[in-house]
Amino acid sequence: MKHLLFRLHLFLMGMLVATATSYAQKSPDAMNRFIDDLMKKMTLDEKIGQLNLPVTGQITTGQAKSSDVAKRIRAGEVGGLFNLKGVERIREVQKQAVEESRLGIPLLFGMDVVHGYETIFPIPLGLSCTWNMQAIEESAHIAAIEASADGICWTFSPMVDVCRDPRWGRISEGNGEDPFLGAAIARSMIRGYQGKNMSRNDEIMACVKHFALYGASEAGRDYNTVDMSRQRMFNEYMLPYQAAVEEGVSSVMASFNEIDGIPATGNEWLLTDVLRKQWGFDGFVVTDYTGITEMTAHGMGDTQTVAALALNAGVDMDMVSDAFSSTLKKSLKEGIVSMETIDVACRRILEAKYKLGLFENPYKYCDKARARKQIFTKEHRAVARKTASESLVLLKNENNLLPLAKKGTVAVIGPLANSRSNMPGTWSVAAVLNNAPSLVEGLKEVVGKQVEILTAKGCNLMSDNEYEKRATMFGRTLHRDNRTDQQLLDEALAIAAKSDVIVAALGESSEMSGESSCRTNLEMTDTQRFLLQELLKTGKPVVLVLFTGRPLVLTWEQQHVPAILNVWFGGSEAALAIGDVLFGDVNPSGKLTATFPKNVGQIPLFYAHKNTGRPLAQGEWFQKFRSNYLDVDNEPLYPFGYGLSYTTFSYSDIHLDKTSITGKEELTATVTVTNTGTKDGAEVIQLYIRDLVGSTTRPVKELKGFEKIFLKAGKSKEVSFKITSELLKFYNYTMEYVTEPGEFEVMIGGNSRDVKKTGFRLEPLIP
Ligand code: BGC
Repeated sequence: MKHLLFRLHLFLMGMLVATATSYAQKSPDAMNRFIDDLMKKMTLDEKIGQLNLPVTGQITTGQAKSSDVAKRIRAGEVGGLFNLKGVERIREVQKQAVEESRLGIPLLFGMDVVHGYETIFPIPLGLSCTWNMQAIEESAHIAAIEASADGICWTFSPMVDVCRDPRWGRISEGNGEDPFLGAAIARSMIRGYQGKNMSRNDEIMACVKHFALYGASEAGRDYNTVDMSRQRMFNEYMLPYQAAVEEGVSSVMASFNEIDGIPATGNEWLLTDVLRKQWGFDGFVVTDYTGITEMTAHGMGDTQTVAALALNAGVDMDMVSDAFSSTLKKSLKEGIVSMETIDVACRRILEAKYKLGLFENPYKYCDKARARKQIFTKEHRAVARKTASESLVLLKNENNLLPLAKKGTVAVIGPLANSRSNMPGTWSVAAVLNNAPSLVEGLKEVVGKQVEILTAKGCNLMSDNEYEKRATMFGRTLHRDNRTDQQLLDEALAIAAKSDVIVAALGESSEMSGESSCRTNLEMTDTQRFLLQELLKTGKPVVLVLFTGRPLVLTWEQQHVPAILNVWFGGSEAALAIGDVLFGDVNPSGKLTATFPKNVGQIPLFYAHKNTGRPLAQGEWFQKFRSNYLDVDNEPLYPFGYGLSYTTFSYSDIHLDKTSITGKEELTATVTVTNTGTKDGAEVIQLYIRDLVGSTTRPVKELKGFEKIFLKAGKSKEVSFKITSELLKFYNYTMEYVTEPGEFEVMIGGNSRDVKKTGFRLEPLIP
C-alpha cells in the first residue's frame, strides 16, 4: 500500500512538474526538487541499480514479465536497457519498471541508431562526404522520428572519432580525418536527434562517442592502445567531442582505448577534468560495452578495483559489465568509493530521465499508432535516397564514360551486385535486412524498360572461405557460390558479351568494415581483382561501382579502370541512389573526407600533416635525405576533399578585402566559382589556412571553412569566407589556446590539393 501511495505521489509530482514547466532546462530548480525528493526515498541498492545498463537479449512480446531482465527491473536493479526493438515489447518492459518496481522509476531505452533506424542513411563516413550539414541533420532527425516511434529514447550516436588510419574498420562509423568538419557534423547530428530540448516525443537523447581518441588506435587495430601528445589531442582529435558538448549532447560514451596509460573508462583527467570542468558537460557518462571489466585485462586490477576506478573517474552508467552492481556496495563499506559519488552518478541518470520527460509520461515513446505510421515511410525513404546520392564520390571518369545512357544493355557483375542484406552497411541494428533493393533491383527500377539489365555473380567475395565467413556476419551473408571459379567467370563473360557496358559491383562486404573488422591489406580481394582484369579484357567499357566502408587502396584500379564510382554503403535506398547517379538523373557531388593512400605502407596519410625539416615539394619524388620513401611518393591516390562531377568548376584567384587584421577584426576571402561544363551540378568549396610560423610547428594546411553550392551550367557565383583571429587559434606548447600574430596562407579550392593561394598578416594587438 505504502509502495502504491508513493507511486501515486511520484506520478502526481511528475504531472505537476511537467505541466508547470515542461523541461528541466526551463526550470532546473523544479527538476532538482523532484530528484532530491525521489532520492530521499531510494535505498542504496536502488541508487546503484540506476547505474546499470544491461543488454536485453531476446524478449519476445508477451513474455517480458518472465524474462530475467524483468526480474532485475522489478527489483530496481536496472537504469536502462538497450537494443530491444519494437514498441510493444518496450512498452511491456517499461510497464514492469513503472508498475512493478518499488519506486516506479522509468527506464531509458537505448539503441545504436547510427545512420538511420529502418530507413537507413549512408554509413557515417559516406554521409560526411555530402558535406551537407542540413542533410546530415535531417538524417538524424528522421532517425529520431523512427526510433522514437518504436519506443527508443536514446541513441548511441554520433560517433565522432577522428581517424587517419583506414585499416581501422570503424573509420566507417565516423566522419573521416578532419576535426573541423567532424565538429560541424557532430553539431548537426545532435541537433537532428535532440531537437531543441528533447521535449517532443520524436526527439531523442544523443550520446557522443567514443570519448576519446578511439580513432587513433595503434596500427589501425581495434581496441588497441592510443598514445599521443596533448597538443595533438587538442589540436587534432578533441574538437568534435567538444563541439558535441557545446551543442548540448546529453550523454557521452567512454571509449575502450587507453589514454596516457589509463583506459578512458577509468581516466579521471579525461572524464572529469576535461569533460566536466573544462568543457562544462552536465549530462551523464556511460561506458562502452563491458568497458569497466575490460580494465582488468588492461592490467588495472580486479572487478572491484576497476569499478571503483571508473566511478571515481566520472563514469555514471555501466554498460553490460555488472561491475557496479556487484561491487559498489562493498567498496562503499571499505571506503573506496563515497556515498556522494554514487549519489552524483544516480542523480545524473535521473536527470536524463527527467529531461526526456519520462517521469511525466513513461510511455512518451510508446505510441503504437506512431510506430505504424512513421517508420520506413515513403517520405523518409525519398530523403534517404537523395542523401545517399549526394554521398557517392566519383573517383575517376575517363572520357566522360558516366553518366550512362538510358538505352541498350548493361551487365551488372560481381559478388555485391545482387545482395540485399549487404546494402545498408555496418551498424544498421534496426534495419529490416531484406527491405532494401539490391543493386540490380534498384537499377532496374531506375531505368524501367529503357535499359536491359543482365546480371551474374562473376566470383565469390574472396577465395578464402574462412575469411569470407568472418566478413559476412549478422545475417549479411553473400551466399557463397559453390560453382567453380571458371564456371562463375564464364557466366559473367557470357552476359558481358551481350552488353554495351559492364558495371562491376565489387569491393567490401558490409561487415568487412565496422567494429572488429580491421584489415592490413586494403586492396581489392584476389577473386575480385581477377574478375575485374577479365572484364577489362573484353574491351567493353567498365564502370567500377565500389562498395566500401573505408578508403581502399585503388592504385591498380585507378590505372586500369576507366570509371570508378565510390558508393560506400548507402543505406536502404542505396541501389536507387546509385542508379540515379549512374544514369545521370543526379550529378555526383560527394567529396572524400578521408585520404585514399597509394599503398598501406603510407598510412597514416592525411592532408593536415606537419611539414618536417626535410619536406618534399608537392609533386616531387625521391630525394636522398628528404622525408620520403624509396618505393612510393608521398602523395595520396585521392586527396581529402576530392571528388569529380559530370560537370567542371573553375575557381578565380582569391580576393581578400584586407591584407592584415588585428584583434577582433575580420577579413573576407572571396572566390568566384564557375560551372564551366554543360551540366548543372553542386560543388563543395573548401577554405584551408596555414599558419606559416608558430611557437610550435603547425600543419601544412587546415580546413577552416566550407560551403556547398549548386550552379547551373555556365553560371558563376561568388563565395566568401570570414576569417577572424578566433579561427586561427591553437593549443601551444603549454596548452594555452592562443592566436599568434604573423603570416598566414589562405587556400581555397575544390579539394585539399588543388587550391588557389594568397596570404595575409595577423598583426599584434597594440594596447
Ligand atoms: C561499441 C559501441 C556501441 C556499443 C553498444 C560497442 O561494442 O563499441 O559503439 O554503442 O557496443 O552496442
